[in-house]
Amino acid sequence: MILSEQLPKNQATKTYTASWQAPSNIAIVKYWGKMGFQQPINPSISFSLSESYTQTTITATERKEPNNRLEVEFFFEGERNETFANRILKYIDTIVADLPYIQYFALKIESSNSFPHSSGIASSASSMAALALALLDIQNQIDPSLQLDYKMASHLARLGSGSGCRSVKGRWNLWGKIDSYTSSSNLYSTEIEAIHPLFNTLNDTILIIDPNKKSTSSTQGHALMKNHPYKEARIQQANKHTQELLECLKLGDFDNFIQITENEALTLHGLMMNSNPSYTLMLPNTLEAIARIRNFRTQNHLPICFTLDAGPNIHLIYPNEISDKVTPFIQQQLLSLCANDRVIYDHIGTGAKSLMVNHE
Ligand code: PMV
Repeated sequence: MILSEQLPKNQATKTYTASWQAPSNIAIVKYWGKMGFQQPINPSISFSLSESYTQTTITATERKEPNNRLEVEFFFEGERNETFANRILKYIDTIVADLPYIQYFALKIESSNSFPHSSGIASSASSMAALALALLDIQNQIDPSLQLDYKMASHLARLGSGSGCRSVKGRWNLWGKIDSYTSSSNLYSTEIEAIHPLFNTLNDTILIIDPNKKSTSSTQGHALMKNHPYKEARIQQANKHTQELLECLKLGDFDNFIQITENEALTLHGLMMNSNPSYTLMLPNTLEAIARIRNFRTQNHLPICFTLDAGPNIHLIYPNEISDKVTPFIQQQLLSLCANDRVIYDHIGTGAKSLMVNHE
């Protein structure tokens, strides 16, 4: 949207705005460890969420006298936030070569999350995807001959947060090059087309065992994979799981899905526990919840399993058709293990979208 037409010619300053919503995602095969610049050492597969998202609006105003310093203001939930602003400035600096217009515009970035602070949900994937899409959208408005390129958006999101590249498209996404999937890449994620209906209605109920900031960040965790004694075995395992998960998703094989999902979650935490230095992010209530979920599954023969992010909170994964049986189980057996009984009910979603009226 160009606003400059309303201004008298001699004062005309071009201003563009773009506003995007991008979801968080939950990985089933986990990305853990980097190579080169923000490329993964192993492939990963995730699905996009629906209720947990970031909304970002960018107003880009042409600068009268551009210089080498970028001009970026950042507001988080209505308030100026210098800590985030510095991180975003650093990120934007790395993508100027991809989006050169940034040098000639002052950017006002306003961002907010659907999920509350300290909810235990990582916001880096959704925030970087929303930011990348809004920045790219402005480039397309400046040069209307360009179409919105989702691969490019995913690539730009990856440079801010690895898992953010899987938050552009909806449903199931694969990130990382594997031979059997020709469109796969280390640089951006690809939406997986062959999905059995069972896996298109998945719920992700997030049990907030502890909402506090983690003692060791994902960035530190990725770095510890560099000299990890099990690095090569992990890369092989993740490749095997990726192949197997693609088959499960295609065929609707929930038994194998459970096996891969839980193994991936516990491997991730195992890698943390036996890295050097070692650290633990699971808490006693995480283990208690895992035991209760497995017990509930065995007793009721239901397709339900858990996964974990790099933190103590449990993501309970199950098809929507068994919700009526799972909800009482959550209420009766899991709620008491959560901080202040906090649970977030989320489900698979359709991906990022523009929030601008009339946007195609
Ligand atoms: O994208 P990062 O650097 O925040 O790392 C994400 C790592 C995990 O969430 C643990 C796994 C994943 O694939 O999302």
